[in-house]
Amino acid sequence: MKIEYSKPGKMVAVFLLEKEKPPIKCKFEGKLGETYSTETHLLVGLGKKKDFRNDNLRKAAGTAVRFANGRKEKEISIILPKWVDDDGIRAVAEGAVLANYQFLRYKSEKEKNSLEKVGIVGRKSKALETGRIYGEAQNYARDIDERPANLATPTSIAKEAKKLNAKVTVFDRNALKKKKMEAILGVARGSGEPPVLLKLEYNAGKNLPLYCIVGKGITFDSGGISLKPPKDMHEMKYDKTGAINVLGIFRAVSELKLPIRLIGFAPLTENTPDGNAQKPGDIVRSYNGKTIEVLNTDAEGRLVLADALAFAAEHKPRYIIDMATLTGAIIVSLGRHAIGLFSNDDKLAKEIETAGEQTHERVWRLPLWPEYGEMMKSDVADLKNISETPEAGSITAAAFLKEFVGETKWAHLDIAGVELTKGNHGYLGTDDWTFVSEPAGYLGTGATCTGVRLVTRTLENLANKR
Ligand code: BES
Ligand code: MN
Ligand code: ZN
Repeated sequence: MKIEYSKPGKMVAVFLLEKEKPPIKCKFEGKLGETYSTETHLLVGLGKKKDFRNDNLRKAAGTAVRFANGRKEKEISIILPKWVDDDGIRAVAEGAVLANYQFLRYKSEKEKNSLEKVGIVGRKSKALETGRIYGEAQNYARDIDERPANLATPTSIAKEAKKLNAKVTVFDRNALKKKKMEAILGVARGSGEPPVLLKLEYNAGKNLPLYCIVGKGITFDSGGISLKPPKDMHEMKYDKTGAINVLGIFRAVSELKLPIRLIGFAPLTENTPDGNAQKPGDIVRSYNGKTIEVLNTDAEGRLVLADALAFAAEHKPRYIIDMATLTGAIIVSLGRHAIGLFSNDDKLAKEIETAGEQTHERVWRLPLWPEYGEMMKSDVADLKNISETPEAGSITAAAFLKEFVGETKWAHLDIAGVELTKGNHGYLGTDDWTFVSEPAGYLGTGATCTGVRLVTRTLENLANKR
């Protein structure tokens, strides 16, 4: 699907605030999510002016795209409101591109969306192209994240990474042994699929500031010997979202040509039990030398991240940001509408909060006080991978990670609540969003790869500040 500036076609979408006059004669109030359509027009309500935020435009653009596909249109024009700002134009592009995404890779009969072009009518800005790049980077990541564990193995994901516009180094099992990354190797022991640690490098100039990103890449999390219950276990194919987000961010950053240096790390392995699998009570030594008592093999994300974060810190970046579907507890705390944010640096945390508002990939910061770190001390090793009680499960997990970044300024994003949607993500509570086709919003069902736009925007904002 193309998205570009053009003249109005025969089907136009118009977005209206409450009390704005519709361009056609009809009863239309402009309530958020309200829609009205004729042969030639689709009206979408943006709600009250005082409550307006740019994400309403993202949703409205998504609605227009779903509507056009529902009608088997090849083209729809979106008339930009006159008052729209650059972030609003980005939002329109993102909403349209994200809503048109389909995962058809394993369908024999492909019911492909009809839409070939979204024509944008209104104020010209390069924000449209920027929004398209953001949306497509997220869709690219979704397309890998959606693949199940038998098809998206650590090895095949390494192959995908090599297609990116980046220098890619693949550390295989032998290389991991040489680097003494026992925490990753321990998790990988029970799997028939060999693990890899990917290192991606993007360099727009050697004197530019260096940032590191790290993503948890468990291609399937069965829990290992501490086996998970069978219900919904298939959803654990999404436990690689953090790592796949790293690929998506590299795609966006290189396409945007951001003036930074960026190194990405993605530890990739399955977490499955066999006769050789890691057992509760095992002790491993991580890359930074700290020993870990593995009391629960299902708390594996923090183990693979331990080695990867310590490796990242060695590169002395200005900031490290990691993304991980780390804890079920974050879903209890924040539900499916926010990413858990943890940081040892207030400035970095603020940057991420700002980007969260801009991208509507919203974050909520939780504390990382030393008391939580105390809960992760082991009797027989330096650390244990779970605490005595499940209390503050997301915070104790983050406190564990903190042990591996040293003095480096760092933020951890727990994305377990937002990795996938069953159709209600971005749903505002009015049934009207669902008028053309389920599901509502602009993200549809399945992998969302939430975090791609958030972290890319954080990096973009940082790059613009210099
Ligand atoms: N990948 C899971 C976390 C998760 C749960 C992600 C639900 C998405 C949806 C993680 O590896 C895990 O199993 N965490 C355990 C930690 C516990 C053993 C301390 C959890 O959350 O139960
Ligand atoms: Mn687990
Ligand atoms: Zn996991």
